[in-house]
Amino acid sequence: MKHLLGIEDLTKEEIESLVEEAIQLKSDRGVIELKPLKGETWAMIFTKSSTRTRVSFEVGLNELGARPMFLNANDVQLGRGEPIRDTARVLGRMVHGAIIRTYDQQDVVDFAGYGMIPTINALTDEEHPCQIIADLQTIRERLGGWDEKKVVFFGDGDCNMGRSWAWAAKRLGFELVIAAPKAFQPDEEFMSRLGEAPVSVTDDAKAAAEGADVLYTDTWVSMGKEAEAAERLEILAPFQVNESLLELANDGAIVQHCLPAYRDKEITESLLEARADEIFQEAENRLHAQKAILVALARGR
Ligand code: CP
Ligand code: NVA
Repeated sequence: MKHLLGIEDLTKEEIESLVEEAIQLKSDRGVIELKPLKGETWAMIFTKSSTRTRVSFEVGLNELGARPMFLNANDVQLGRGEPIRDTARVLGRMVHGAIIRTYDQQDVVDFAGYGMIPTINALTDEEHPCQIIADLQTIRERLGGWDEKKVVFFGDGDCNMGRSWAWAAKRLGFELVIAAPKAFQPDEEFMSRLGEAPVSVTDDAKAAAEGADVLYTDTWVSMGKEAEAAERLEILAPFQVNESLLELANDGAIVQHCLPAYRDKEITESLLEARADEIFQEAENRLHAQKAILVALARGR
């Protein structure tokens, strides 16, 4: 693996091996030292806010021997209009890898192309691949795997998380249902790019929840969509993940949320607190999953 730009680009085998490696690194943490990035410096260029992604990458890079260099996009010349391809050609001559959180997927694609160093998508409007690897790890730990499982994504089905879940279902073959109002379903261009996949889309949240093994949700107002907040909160309200929806799911179903959570919006406060163990296990797995991604990139160059 040279870069991680999206789940779309990964094979089934690559995804499975990242999850296995993440589980191994989790059990080895504090026991076996692994420093494949010793002496390296990795740039973290963030245009959007972050708690989990930033902290897990900074800790993970340190544990693997590298120094993270956090660059707020507004503090470097990128924020004043220097093109991403020039930024990439400068950083590519100085640092050993780059982790980028931004809006346009094309920016991470361009960075990878011009920088010639391992590049990781730490969230764009198109995909959030690091989150998916941690989510799959959690599903493996909690449910034993995803084969024959039904995952339901409730909320803005056209956001980065919905799209990355769709690619995961296509690559791994599990059933994914996207439960979203018509205005927030994946668009036609995306569905035709996805092609044949075990992914269905519905605006019936209750029907979607029936027989589910994983109830997954995400904020209704992704970063960059704040101007649409009032409209989104109203239209998406029937897709809230709550106790009555969970009752329709399979026995043993888990609740997942990539976080940050907006209580009593996309998930009720009571359900979030009742299922905090599995939701914060998912958050912790960001560290292990991203260490697995970094190790795979170190091996791949
Ligand atoms: N889930 C996630 O990516 O969280 P942050 O925005 O805090 O990094
Ligand atoms: N869809 C959300 C994910 C946050 C981790 C966003 O893009 O803001």
